[in-house]
Amino acid sequence: MFLTKEEERILEGKQGFSYKKAMEILEALGDLYGAEKLVPIESAQISGVSFKTIGDAGLAFLRDMSDAKVEVPTTINPAGMDLVNWEELGFPREFAEKQKEIISYYKKMGAEPECTCTPYLVGNKPSFGDHLAWSESSAVSYANSVLGARTNREGGASALASSIIGKTPKYGYHLKENRAPDIGFKINEEIKRADFGALGKKVGRLIEDKTPFFEFSSSVNLDELKLLGAAMASTGAVALYHVKNVTPESKEYDEPNEFIEISKDEISDEYINDKSNIDLVALGCPHLSFDELKTIYDYLKNKEIKKELWLFVARSLREEHQELINELEKKDVKIVSDTCMVVSPLKEMGYSKIMVDSGKASTYLPSLGDVEVVFSDLIDCLEVAVGGD
Ligand code: F3S
Repeated sequence: MFLTKEEERILEGKQGFSYKKAMEILEALGDLYGAEKLVPIESAQISGVSFKTIGDAGLAFLRDMSDAKVEVPTTINPAGMDLVNWEELGFPREFAEKQKEIISYYKKMGAEPECTCTPYLVGNKPSFGDHLAWSESSAVSYANSVLGARTNREGGASALASSIIGKTPKYGYHLKENRAPDIGFKINEEIKRADFGALGKKVGRLIEDKTPFFEFSSSVNLDELKLLGAAMASTGAVALYHVKNVTPESKEYDEPNEFIEISKDEISDEYINDKSNIDLVALGCPHLSFDELKTIYDYLKNKEIKKELWLFVARSLREEHQELINELEKKDVKIVSDTCMVVSPLKEMGYSKIMVDSGKASTYLPSLGDVEVVFSDLIDCLEVAVGGD
């Protein structure tokens, strides 16, 4: 990969260890994928924030890198706990100390300590055509597909390296020719919210890292797209999709020659329905939008909660809609920020069976969280929360 004189200088270590390390990561990545050069980015979003997922090795890496400063607006992924209410929610103290140390390094480097997988809902919203280095897979999918920005599915280390250098190797989804759809899917029946997550699980497993093109017979909203992309990125490695007449690049390429039709029954096969002995209902994977919070509140308004219900929300969104949050808290709903059900140590906190309405959470909770999962629609989840056992 071609490097400018300035980039060569950084690689030689003239700006210090952390910058040299960052440039080495980018150069290795660029060489591996045949990038011609580095391209400036508008923002970075870094995964690898929870102590549960990065452990002591990740913590040591961040400590080593923390002399550098980020060059572009940078937000970070959910941490392993709510950074304010961790004690009240029962997160273990030892875990909390390690987690706080991780956050302190990101802050020192100048990253926004807004720990969310939906940065596009809270200020880090890219424009069409922006080059980015984002690493949270659901956010990568949303940025590429719904916003028309351009990012590869970065790892935590490469997104951090890009945030420090302000550039990323120009290959993959940064190039228009790699953004065309490969395979078509038609959904000819009306489907409900969680069906988008279930559909995403099915399609991700089928196509791995290809780019799908969807044609829905009914309308689709942004929250549904959020669930669809997150799920496809969990069972497959889908980082970009198009939806006919909805996503911004859907008209820029020829439609695929062949379409696979997926029925509502096939989508429903993805649900996990054993509703016995659920000890926590957890919603907000990806983190909830205002509209989703409002839907939940409207359902709960005149009802009493009988089972633990946690809602995962970006901290800024929570602060922006404090009134609604207060109403939910009055109903004994736990509003949790800075973390999520997958990257927090729920098993260690005594939860063993968790109900979700998210395809992505239902994929990861059994493997990464080591807990049983129930996957159903939002309203089913809320019914369980108000119905008790
Ligand atoms: Fe976000 Fe955690 Fe789901 S990072 S997409 S809430 S697994």
